[in-house]
Amino acid sequence: MSRKFYITTPIYYVNARPHIGHAYTTIACDTIARRQRMFGADTFFLTGTDEHGQKIERAAQAAGKTPQEFTDEVSAQFRALWQRMGITNDDFIRTTEERHKKRVQELFRRIRDNGHIYKGTYTGQYCVFDELYVDAVGPGAPCPECGRPTETVKEENYFFKLSVFADKLLQLYTEQPDFIRPETRRNEVMSFVRGGLRDLSISRSTFSWGIPVPDDPKHVIYVWLDALANYITAIGYGSSHKGAQEAFQKYWPADLHMIGKEIVRFHCVYWPAFLMAARLPLPKGIMAHGWLLFEENKMSKSRGNIVRAETILDVLGADALRYFLLREVVFGQDGSFSFDALVQRYNSDLANGLGNLASRTLTMITRYFRGQVPYPSAAFSQSAGDNAIAENARKVIVECNALFDQYQFSRALEAAWGLVAAVDKYIVENEPWALGEKQDEESRSRLATILYTSAEALRIVTALAHPVIPDATSKIWSQLGLGDIRKLVLPELKWGQLPLSTKLGNVEPVFPRADKSAIERMQKMEEQQRGGSSTTQAQPDASTTVPPVATQAAAAPAAKLAVTVPDGKISIDDFAKVDLRVGQVKAAEKVKGADKLLRLEVDLGTEVRQVVAGIAESYAPELLIGRKVVIVANLAPRKLRGLESNGMIVAASPEGGKAVLAGFLEDVPVGTRLK
Ligand code: MSP
Repeated sequence: MSRKFYITTPIYYVNARPHIGHAYTTIACDTIARRQRMFGADTFFLTGTDEHGQKIERAAQAAGKTPQEFTDEVSAQFRALWQRMGITNDDFIRTTEERHKKRVQELFRRIRDNGHIYKGTYTGQYCVFDELYVDAVGPGAPCPECGRPTETVKEENYFFKLSVFADKLLQLYTEQPDFIRPETRRNEVMSFVRGGLRDLSISRSTFSWGIPVPDDPKHVIYVWLDALANYITAIGYGSSHKGAQEAFQKYWPADLHMIGKEIVRFHCVYWPAFLMAARLPLPKGIMAHGWLLFEENKMSKSRGNIVRAETILDVLGADALRYFLLREVVFGQDGSFSFDALVQRYNSDLANGLGNLASRTLTMITRYFRGQVPYPSAAFSQSAGDNAIAENARKVIVECNALFDQYQFSRALEAAWGLVAAVDKYIVENEPWALGEKQDEESRSRLATILYTSAEALRIVTALAHPVIPDATSKIWSQLGLGDIRKLVLPELKWGQLPLSTKLGNVEPVFPRADKSAIERMQKMEEQQRGGSSTTQAQPDASTTVPPVATQAAAAPAAKLAVTVPDGKISIDDFAKVDLRVGQVKAAEKVKGADKLLRLEVDLGTEVRQVVAGIAESYAPELLIGRKVVIVANLAPRKLRGLESNGMIVAASPEGGKAVLAGFLEDVPVGTRLK
């Protein structure tokens, strides 16, 4: 049986739309999850949204929406962004889902039955922004975490006996030094716990947007207990279904909770204490990374200094964002984001670095060896330089893997790109283009060795970088004629495995150079956004669909980043952006006052979506129940007659005739993707 690996991101608050701070954590986890899969681990990668509590209730009010409408909308934005970025999460949990609510109540009961909960009255300060009980005195006293004014709360609450867990927690941190990483955070937590722990209020009774306390529904469960529990509810804790129970047995405890440094206390103190109280196993480790700063401050909605991932995806693509964040920021420390640095890094490391190495090597193999990987033959064709590259590559494999294992992404990438630079130099020094002009046996043999060596080094870097830049490396892999990179078993990666005579695929540039206007364009897109609403889904500006690109420096055909190609056709990548899925209609009804519209609830396997469809003239609602349909699952939500539609049902619409739903002759499981 394969080793399992369970990794989680924090679940993101839905008071604001996603930005690259959220993307940062998600990208780091996605990279780790992809690597684990390449190492053969049975990996489960969880993310989701945190939707209860006063902060969200107030944000919904401010937006003039019900909390449910509001959370549906923003949660869908997170989900759509992760899909667009190719994030490989295995599940996406929302704390407003029934499965979560029931299981949290089960956890509450269990902690209560184990004698760790009592009723009392809380009088003190509360920070709604951090959803944190604060040791401060007097109305308006600033929150020690965020500096915002706190509110005085006096209400009857349930309390958790946190104080009794102090010694056990200290023992945990001492016996398992890797439980909290990096070390600085571990030290902070230890001194916090040594300072003494007070019992924690774990319910609120002055608002209702939360999960009711079992047997006492006047109270809702404290949003942090609700939220932290997602890590177990999503994989089946508290479920009576056998499959869910088995999943919980299999994946819990988590191997890694990845978080930002501001939520260390909740994860490293409260969460293990809750689990100890419930007599459940503890996660194996918690890693806290630093903040992404923009204009010198933590990027956050409330500061109004966020950068949206969509802007970068539109102009440079997901790999550029992933690479930049993991290469530029030392993981664990704070790091600054700027468009200048992004474009500079993109051009130097991706367009001129890996992209250029790939296109010049593969183009020369195409030109001089009719697209087949040549044999590095005969003794006289070997030089010290060739062996140095092979040696370098062997070292890089070991070093890069070790650094990735310690989540030192920046250094791991630096090591891999050291090989790119070495091969570049090797190519320049050996001038294969000059050898290519000669026909004598020695020149041909030398040329073969140089190009084989370059292609093999390219293969190694491509394999190592795959978890970070999955799109580009998949393309380079297939251009190398190696097929599907997901089949690669990373621990088996060695120098010399590139099969001789491999027929290359079509050689195309993967990272077209970005010119200066890319920076201005991204800045403009963000400025426009800041002028507009911060919670509604932004529609990409038409002018941004064709990003500014210049031709790649190497011997390569014209760059290709544009969304449409001239004759109106779209590329397979563009088609892949449309998330078509099999859904099953669970409920259907006419929309009042609209002859053509039906309100449908469609099960997608992972969630039930509300979709408003213009098919009322073709189908009676009751005939649709149970029917399998095709749904465009990643369409931005929109409102029709005041109802939010989350997706679109695919139907043929004959001229002047009635709509006919697309369907299947054979049975097909709900949730299956069409591609
Ligand atoms: N909902 C809670 C977490 C509950 S987990 C059981 C929460 N949500 S959050 O949306 O405010 O932030 C969650 C995480 O997003 C942070 O811990 C961090 O991982 C990431 N980031 C949000 N802004 C960020 C930056 N500016 N920089 C880096 N990471 C950022 O807290």
